[in-house]
Amino acid sequence: MSQDYSVVNFDKLTCAGNLASLDSVASNPHYTFIKSDICDPVAVEMTMAGCQTVVHFAAESHVDRSIYDPAPMIETNATGTFVLLQIARKLNIEKFAHLSTDEVYGDMEPGTFAGEYSLPQPSSPYSASKASSDLIVRPYVRTFGLPAIITRASNNYGPFQFPEKFLPLTIASALDDKPLPIYGDGKQERNWLHVQDHCRGIFAVLERGRIGEVYNIGGADVVENLTMARRLLRATGKPQSLISHVADRPGHDRRYALNCEKIQRELGWKPTISLDDGLRQTIEWHRSYTKWLTEVRGGHYRTYYQKYYENRGSSLHAITESGRKPTSYLAQAIPQPRKATTYSPRTIVLFLCGKNAPRKPQAARTIRHRQRRLLHRSLGDQIPAAITRLRRNPRFVFQQRRSHESGSPACQLGARFHAELAQ
Ligand SMILES: NC(=O)c1ccc[n+]([C@@H]2O[C@H](COP(=O)([O-])OP(=O)(O)OC[C@H]3O[C@@H](n4cnc5c(N)ncnc54)[C@H](O)[C@@H]3O)[C@@H](O)[C@H]2O)c1
Repeated sequence: MSQDYSVVNFDKLTCAGNLASLDSVASNPHYTFIKSDICDPVAVEMTMAGCQTVVHFAAESHVDRSIYDPAPMIETNATGTFVLLQIARKLNIEKFAHLSTDEVYGDMEPGTFAGEYSLPQPSSPYSASKASSDLIVRPYVRTFGLPAIITRASNNYGPFQFPEKFLPLTIASALDDKPLPIYGDGKQERNWLHVQDHCRGIFAVLERGRIGEVYNIGGADVVENLTMARRLLRATGKPQSLISHVADRPGHDRRYALNCEKIQRELGWKPTISLDDGLRQTIEWHRSYTKWLTEVRGGHYRTYYQKYYENRGSSLHAITESGRKPTSYLAQAIPQPRKATTYSPRTIVLFLCGKNAPRKPQAARTIRHRQRRLLHRSLGDQIPAAITRLRRNPRFVFQQRRSHESGSPACQLGARFHAELAQ
């Protein structure tokens, strides 16, 4: 890690996050880790305060998971991005990089390539949630002047990648002599980008990118999934018979293809790690980091693997069966509302008549006389219900406080409240 930067890593540590991947920087004085959720504005604000730049990596990123359970995608990717943008705007962050994906462009026709202004045509809840987050970023630049930039990268691979993604799953399965699950006919084309090239691209964008722009970041190689699986089997010395075709993903995009001329022309970025070298290093990494792999593939991952691969036929049928609705539709689709700030009946008593009560209700101090009368009337209307609720509360003990000296509307209200309560 460069001495020029201090990095605060803010991560919820979902099953895709793993602190063991960061052992090499954990004791670096320029590095701090905070475990929290980007949907929590208080935690985000406390963490972002004092930072100059935000690089927004956090996401629910697995397409299959998004098909089985879309709600966390929308919550983290759309709402979480909104929270980050709001706080970044409040704190006058100097640069905000929002990481997006080639998947927002959807299925590309053979021979076509998505440029930065191609229409977003997402196919899965994951890519839709990322496209939504991209759209949320745009007004923060144009309307609020937040210095944000969007990057859209192609399929990443490299060390420490959570083995639910195609490439680490395929390598890990091959090394374990387990079947390599290939969706459908395996003819889906993907553009492969080594994670170090991706990070170099993000740095180029942060340092030299134009505010408000989108930059595609893609690798040099486009390979069909089946061809990639065969290549990995050869590279690991395992038999081709390990290839196992499984049910295709509903709505599976056949082809992603990026046009990356803009980042090459404007920022001088291009990928430096060839697919051959990158795959060799990644396989070596998998051979050496067996402890890391064993740990991430225990527990939740095991359940996940059974659901998505071993029992794929039946679990997919459950979500694609015609006319079937998600079982807990509302619970899934609507995030639980945050607890609203309510004033309990006890608060009303203390507010109006407590020992330290202001001479007038706080809210009334800033509003005009007429509005104040309305406020008192409406508070007055609430007195019987508030008293009923108070009496039901086993912890409530009625104590006469002080007398209501002045004849102001607030004191009259307090006096009425006390009188009714004392009956
Ligand atoms: N992996 C790829 O091929 C690829 C390609 C293009 C773009 N991207 C984008 O790059 C980013 C990182 O992708 P990845 O493959 O490393 O994803 P990942 O799923 O492997 O990791 C996502 C990280 O975000 C964290 N996270 C999830 N929800 C969070 C929340 N609510 N609050 C805080 N942290 C949370 C997780 O704990 C995890 O550490 C994502 O925005 C993704 O859309 C990835």
